[in-house]
Amino acid sequence: MARTSPVTDWAVDFDVLDAQYVADPFGIWDELRKRCPIAHTDRRGSTWLPTRYEDVTTIAHDVEHFSSLEVAVIPFDGEEPEDPVLPYGLPPISADPPLHTWTRRLLLPWFSHQRVNGYEALTRSLCTSLIDGFVASGHADAAADYAQQIPVRVIAHILGVSDSHADMFTGWVRDVLEFADDPERRIHGVEGLLNYFLEEIEVRRQHPGDDLLSMLLHAEVDGAPVEQSVALGAAALVLIAGVDTTWSAIGSSLWHLATHPDDRKRLVAEPEVMSFAIEDLLRAYSPVTMARIVTKDIEFAHCPMRAGDRVLMNFPAANRDPEAFVDADKVVLDRAVNRHVAFGSGIHRCAGSNLARMELRVALEEWLRRIPDFRLEEGREVTWAGGQVRGPRCLPVVFS
Ligand code: HEM
Repeated sequence: MARTSPVTDWAVDFDVLDAQYVADPFGIWDELRKRCPIAHTDRRGSTWLPTRYEDVTTIAHDVEHFSSLEVAVIPFDGEEPEDPVLPYGLPPISADPPLHTWTRRLLLPWFSHQRVNGYEALTRSLCTSLIDGFVASGHADAAADYAQQIPVRVIAHILGVSDSHADMFTGWVRDVLEFADDPERRIHGVEGLLNYFLEEIEVRRQHPGDDLLSMLLHAEVDGAPVEQSVALGAAALVLIAGVDTTWSAIGSSLWHLATHPDDRKRLVAEPEVMSFAIEDLLRAYSPVTMARIVTKDIEFAHCPMRAGDRVLMNFPAANRDPEAFVDADKVVLDRAVNRHVAFGSGIHRCAGSNLARMELRVALEEWLRRIPDFRLEEGREVTWAGGQVRGPRCLPVVFS
């Protein structure tokens, strides 16, 4: 995989793919907030990295200067196709208004509280059967055997595609997000996803079902049918946005509980704390960083940003800002006031947050019910993915 040289000065030459940043970015953000709250790099093009809550949320609300037309944290350095299959990318996430407004409106009802309640039983039985598969052995990879397996199957159900392809979907989504600095893998992931959805679209044109993909294909907006490329992009987005993100949040939460026995014991003893706990776990281990493109030159917080520069929406660092949160570096299971931005802020705020919260809560409830006492396996390494989505990819744990 293409890697740049190790970072020596985080303020002027940062790299979010640097091994230190992927493994443990928290100290780097703390140092930057004090010394240079908006860092810069010229690696992979001129890019800014805000680390303070106030800056990140201000940028998220300024859609005039900060566009979502390119949200990839790692820009694509392969050849762009001349006639792209997705001229609008993955709306609504890669769109500015007005396209953003109506494509978001199409998706939102699918992730309402009421709909999400309807997916809870499926999620719970999925978690139970995954645990059945390894509980007797006394050890598991909590990331690969558990966290990774849950969201992809729930999303497949919502999209109306077969969950027997779960591993294939996961592979494509990892190619697109986790291995985004490898042009071959990135193209492989994009092509795999698009070709798969194009075939599924053909089936639904003839035989519409009651799934999200069918709805997108047969929806009308202002009396006109939705263009196929928009439906395709939105469907691919739901899969891409709903898999790595939630799997990373479940994995990081299990990592926290494996390494903080007091928190683990408290959650087992006081299950009513769970709904607060998942919020603080989401805050402290926020998985998602997005990008924006500067539309016109602007001096932002003394930084001379130029049109075309990239800004990384560092929601994870904003959530660790001591100016915004008391004991920002600690998980406080029953934190009462928690205006975290793990799901973003402003018009692009996560459309699937109800679903993500339900999956995280159910995954932790079922795990703790069956495996209340667990810890990291000695001598085995925990590995993390970074870049656009941060979370553990190998998390060996033991239990009795
Ligand atoms: C813990 C899990 C998740 C986290 C941390 C997360 C985080 C985020 C963030 C930070 C954004 C804002 C992007 C931006 O500002 O550019 C976003 C947008 C979005 N997310 Fe999530 N997400 C999660 C799970 C999901 C799930 C399960 C779905 C459902 C399929 C989903 C669907 C979306 C969509 C469609 C958008 C685009 C919204 C828009 O542009 O208006 N996400 N997510």
